[in-house]
Amino acid sequence: MEQLREKQLAWFKQLHEHPELSYEEFETTKLVKEILTGAGIQLIDTGMATGTVASIGHGSGHVVGLRCDMDALPIQEDTDLPYASKEPGKMHACGHDFHTSTMLGTALLLKEMEDQLPGRALVVFQPAEESGNTSGATILAQSGAVDEAELFLALHSYPHFEAGTLGIKEGPVMASVDTFSVKLTGVGSHAATPHKGIDPIPGMAALILNLQTIVSRCLSPFETGLVTVAHAEAGNTWNVIPCDALLQGTVRAMDQRVREKIKAAIWRMVEHTAATYGLQWEIEWGEGPGPVVNDERLCAVAREVATGLGFVVDRQEDTMGGEDFSEYLRIPRERPGLFVRVGTGGGWANHHPKFIADPEALYPASVFFRDLAIRCMERGTEG
Ligand code: NI
Repeated sequence: MEQLREKQLAWFKQLHEHPELSYEEFETTKLVKEILTGAGIQLIDTGMATGTVASIGHGSGHVVGLRCDMDALPIQEDTDLPYASKEPGKMHACGHDFHTSTMLGTALLLKEMEDQLPGRALVVFQPAEESGNTSGATILAQSGAVDEAELFLALHSYPHFEAGTLGIKEGPVMASVDTFSVKLTGVGSHAATPHKGIDPIPGMAALILNLQTIVSRCLSPFETGLVTVAHAEAGNTWNVIPCDALLQGTVRAMDQRVREKIKAAIWRMVEHTAATYGLQWEIEWGEGPGPVVNDERLCAVAREVATGLGFVVDRQEDTMGGEDFSEYLRIPRERPGLFVRVGTGGGWANHHPKFIADPEALYPASVFFRDLAIRCMERGTEG
């Protein structure tokens, strides 16, 4: 066991020193595959250039999916770690190096007892979690490589809990993430002759305010949703009425119904606000991952396993951040899932240039996922 702890620390440091961005995880994939095949673990081809899936066990029980992500962010690291990033402008600021090292540990621990495993584990090393609407999870889930998994488990580093604490919470824990881009087209003219054109700017201003009434007036006070207009652009000088205006932003929700309600309200408001001001309109909608909703029974089992191993179990703070883990719970069919936050200390938020993950948390997290996976192989989601 001491040996695995040390190996995990070495993998973690190596990954941290050499972060790779979404869909560029070539060296990371090479290292992961070397470690897995070196332990005699069978790999499943996903057809993707990066990432892989490990298959462990031949028991007749349930098939359990475990997932980690491997990509880094375009951020310049600002820590004084001896193993800080050696790649300028790239950093593991979301702890995906921690996730990868944890799931490698879990895979090796499961392999050690492969003959006694009651079922099978499919361990996903996923590329491109940070890539927005072209997420690695969608492509991997659609590849068919993990169709057999009956349920899915995943982790995320969490800097606001110390090592030794796990965040486990029922129901929605991460939001759906959609993007929108609205183009309003009028007729340009001289700033002194507004009546000879159709100015898109007042329509744009009205639309921004109208969109902000969706959450406050169209949703129930008990529903959770978010509409952010993050980019507004029209014109480029003081004496010209521009031809068009552009708005871009994001819509987030904890529930599929709320997500659809907001989308419908946006269409309605764009159409009618544009008509009010005599403008043409166009919406580009980018559908991202859905909300991550934790299965209640899996939460109960996970809490029991965690407590048995001496972890402190906390609830986790809700966030309107998104996670493409939800894709595995939707493609190719609905499956129960559990997304656990693993305390990694440090205090700096994920995606901050000073983000650090405490490697002390690695080995215990691997043991937790091994034990939880075995419980699920035995009894599925029935606990
Ligand atoms: Ni992340």
